[in-house]
Amino acid sequence: MKGIILSGGSGTRLRPLTKITSKQLLPIYNRPMIYYPLNTLIKAGIKEILIIVAPERAGDYLNLLGSGREFGVKFTYEIQDKPEGLAQAFIIGETFIGGDSVTMILGDNIFEDDFTEEIYSFKSGAKVFAKHVNDPERFGVVSFDQEMKAEKIVEKPTQYISNNAVTGLYVYDQRVVSAAKSLTPSVRGELEITDLNNWYLEKGELEVAMVKGEWLDAGTFESLLHAQNFAKEKLDSKMII
Ligand code: DAU
Repeated sequence: MKGIILSGGSGTRLRPLTKITSKQLLPIYNRPMIYYPLNTLIKAGIKEILIIVAPERAGDYLNLLGSGREFGVKFTYEIQDKPEGLAQAFIIGETFIGGDSVTMILGDNIFEDDFTEEIYSFKSGAKVFAKHVNDPERFGVVSFDQEMKAEKIVEKPTQYISNNAVTGLYVYDQRVVSAAKSLTPSVRGELEITDLNNWYLEKGELEVAMVKGEWLDAGTFESLLHAQNFAKEKLDSKMII
């Protein structure tokens, strides 16, 4: 199992903080934000991790994270020239992924749960993780049928379909590279992770597990503030990096 942290984008919602560095390097209590998703991958036993960054911030990432030796893992870096969508990560990461399965986590997603079992038990297809939220219109959202099987996933639904947000942690088999290449950009000009998830869903090969603990997408000032306290109270003692 390989790992990818997608940590590009321009962080416009967090200006002026992101005028000096990348959103995912901003402090969350006593660590840079990216340490939290990195901790999730390393804790799950993933040793080879690709970090995808925006060109203007690449130096900051190298300075902070280096080779990965300090963390007992190996880092590879790739540049995403423009933020053209989450699913583009698998095209950029084609050589890195090779013939392996891959777990991707977003650089601004902070999880309380330990996903070791979920990632270890993965064999093929795709696995995503959903969480009940009060503001589903901000996320990719999954609806379930009566047997709790995923029915459909809609990106930022304008009409209510459910309260289950698809979080920024995704596990795929090696077909993800060709599946990503087959996608066409959405109206917002991005290769959507939701389209990729629906690619597996339509084949009956998408599993959805629920996130039990807390999950934060630290992309707004409000969630950033909440993340600071949450990291101090709940996460600090569980971190291995
Ligand atoms: O946080 C979970 C949500 O993430 C999912 O529920 C949605 O289905 C998924 O589309 C995504 O939604 P967001 O609106 O949060 O995506 P955003 O454009 O904010 O990008 C998420 C992170 O990924 C952000 O930290 C920046 C980074 N990013 C984004 C894009 C579009 C990249 O590194 N490259 C990109 O091309």
